Amino acid sequence: MKYKIAMLPGDGIGKDVMEAAQLVLNALELDAEYIYGDIGWEFWRKEGNPLPERTIELLKETDCALFGAITSKPKKEAEEELPPHLRGKVEYFSPIVKLRQIFDLYANVRPCKAYEGNPLNYRDNIDIVIFRENTQGLYSGVEFRPVPDEVRNVLEKYNPNMEKFKDVPNDEMAISLRIFTREGCRRIIRKAFEYAKEHNRKSVTVVEKPNVIRETSGMMIEEARKIAEEYPDIEYGEANIDAMAMWLIKNPERYDILVSSNMFGDIISDLAAQLVGGLGFACGGNIGDDYAIFEPVHGSAPKYAGKYVVNPIAMLRSVKMMLDWLGEKKLAEKLENGIARTIKEGKVRTYDMGGNATTLEMAEEVIRNMD
Ligand code: NAI
Ligand code: MG
Repeated sequence: MKYKIAMLPGDGIGKDVMEAAQLVLNALELDAEYIYGDIGWEFWRKEGNPLPERTIELLKETDCALFGAITSKPKKEAEEELPPHLRGKVEYFSPIVKLRQIFDLYANVRPCKAYEGNPLNYRDNIDIVIFRENTQGLYSGVEFRPVPDEVRNVLEKYNPNMEKFKDVPNDEMAISLRIFTREGCRRIIRKAFEYAKEHNRKSVTVVEKPNVIRETSGMMIEEARKIAEEYPDIEYGEANIDAMAMWLIKNPERYDILVSSNMFGDIISDLAAQLVGGLGFACGGNIGDDYAIFEPVHGSAPKYAGKYVVNPIAMLRSVKMMLDWLGEKKLAEKLENGIARTIKEGKVRTYDMGGNATTLEMAEEVIRNMD
């Protein structure tokens, strides 16, 4: 077999949409072996580990992974659902965040495209791909509450702006650091430009806020300008995150590739996803230099678990991204045509689109429309 692909259904509707993905992959006759792996709440409850070591080992042996969705719950509930012998001994963590770290999947790629005939489109002609830095920035996890004296002393010594906080007690203060590295900025920007080049896209816009967040956003813009020079055929633009939120509502057709840091990218990718149909359509890829995990953006939607009513398009579009990444352009295009035609004809629709087709009926319709 040409490829080994890890299949990680996870919890709830993750399982439903993974079944749809497998149907489509079989129909495409991709030359691959599919190996199913354990991940999610079910394994937290049984083993006290939502990402068992055997799953990490499995991923290391595969070319890439397809991931469904997982359930996560607040600390107290997490603890209560554990078997008694594990209580107090283990702590819950997000398996997908952990996987991004282990495999250094620094680019979170989110294509947002308005398919013709989708009743949920906010506007037609939207075709945006967002590149979000996936490992650093405000989600680095370097945070303090209460803030230790040592940390405060250093900050006060080196930054006069700390003066305004000088009367605030340590336990009345919280600090979350927004850490960027130059290399972190460079590699996400380069990924965005390389994608633009490969897919004949016309522009790349960096979305930051360098006028206010002068050091981190400033460094990102500095690196973007340098890299942009290497791609003279691609138009380069800059926009502030707050303005972008307005422009994406006002003129979403104007934008092509957007690239941003972790939190800003998180926000605009949810905004853009909603312009083109929301969670039933939103797909994503967590991409590094040698490994990638593709997943729909939605969660495990417990109330629909096992009912086979949710829209599989978000998952099928993630499969399409995976095929593209593997270099299977013909199969990717075939699947894309099947998805586009299914949405355009509108004969088979899940509940979110106003229909009553099941998850697997929708997948079968996509398969029929692939040829
Ligand atoms: P969710 O995305 O699971 O569902 C929210 C609502 O969106 C659903 O009730 C449903 O009405 C709609 N929806 C989601 N996917 C859909 C689809 N494919 N087709 C049609 N409608 C769809 O978010 P929620 O309810 O906030 O979280 C449920 C669980 O999922 C939680 O435990 C949460 O932690 C987890 N979660 C996991 C994610 C992941 O695995 N990447 C991402 C987001 C949430
Ligand atoms: Mg998000």
